[in-house]
Amino acid sequence: MTIDQLKQQYNTIFNQEALETYFCPGRVNLIGEHIDYNGGLVMPCAINFGTWMLLSPNEDNVFRFRSVNFDETFDIGVQTAYEKTGSEWYNYPLGVLHHFVEAGKRVQGLDILYYGNVPIGSGLSSSASIEIATAFAFNQFFKSDYTKLELVIMAKSVENNFIGLSSGIMDQFAVAFGEESKALMLNCDTLHYQAVDAYLGDNILAIINTNKPRKLAESKYNERVEECAQALNALQQELSINNLCDIDGDIFKQYGHLITDAIVHKRARHVIEENDRVKLAAAALAAHNLTEFGRLMYASHKSLKNDYEVSGDELDTVIEYSRTDNSVTGARMTGAGFGGCAIAIVKADAFETYSQNLISFYTAKIGYAPSVYATHISDGVHELVG
Ligand code: GLA
Repeated sequence: MTIDQLKQQYNTIFNQEALETYFCPGRVNLIGEHIDYNGGLVMPCAINFGTWMLLSPNEDNVFRFRSVNFDETFDIGVQTAYEKTGSEWYNYPLGVLHHFVEAGKRVQGLDILYYGNVPIGSGLSSSASIEIATAFAFNQFFKSDYTKLELVIMAKSVENNFIGLSSGIMDQFAVAFGEESKALMLNCDTLHYQAVDAYLGDNILAIINTNKPRKLAESKYNERVEECAQALNALQQELSINNLCDIDGDIFKQYGHLITDAIVHKRARHVIEENDRVKLAAAALAAHNLTEFGRLMYASHKSLKNDYEVSGDELDTVIEYSRTDNSVTGARMTGAGFGGCAIAIVKADAFETYSQNLISFYTAKIGYAPSVYATHISDGVHELVG
């Protein structure tokens, strides 16, 4: 769908022209998985898939949220508070609207059209994308004076308090602050970050969507968050720390015995070792050492599979194939897991062959095909002018 087609659709649906158009990307995380809610380091980047949002004010004092993808509209008047209704897509923009009005920001009715090409529920942050698109657009249109970081914190709160997922800040941060060809080295405790060159040499970043329906992902995600809280509690008996990522693998070897539950112990080991891996990965990237970066990606996947137990046959099959293909430097699941997507660093000139061979291997084993994309690391949320 082109912008012109979207504008055309907007005219047809709302009988007026769209005054403003925004784009917010989705994201992948290169390394540092299930780290953000443990106060450690992550390395996400924004991608060239995302959400477009077109808007104009209306005279009716009504918010009309319309989605091209779902072919449905949700209308609601200007109110002083909003509540989540069902589990529909419009709860994300509704949650953002709730935060604006709750903070006393002046709003007025808008006709809004969304279109997204981030595969929904694939772990590429389609929800953070629609949240940040909406928060950024409202902030600009209503002149609400939030900083970008405040919008990120607000969108995280939408996810945690309005939607009910105990997620960390990585996704919202990545889609807001992303930069072309850069990875964001974000410290999720201090929220300090550095945009580092995502050196890929003669490779491209491939995204492999397992196309596995993500059942129970939310409750399992919240369960992991809870297990990490238990691990932290146990360590705090002797260590004065605020986050699991405040210690490294060596200290964990000394104090890990404080965690008596074997499962909780495994979860903590993943988190702490993964955080150490991000530091090594940053150094490898800076030194243009993709071989080492790839090794760390495979190690990350193994830990997510065995210790954190958030992978699955589908993601493991993608990694299993990738390991046998010598055009691949590294591969791992990305995002929350439980299905969703993997990423791989693949020689650009071998991408088509990789893609075809992976599709055959995966289909033979899993029974349906994955989708494979070559992606481009892109800018974060912005207004599209012209
Ligand atoms: C989801 C969450 C993020 C993060 C990742 C796992 O994408 O929204 O906050 O925890 O899972 O790294």
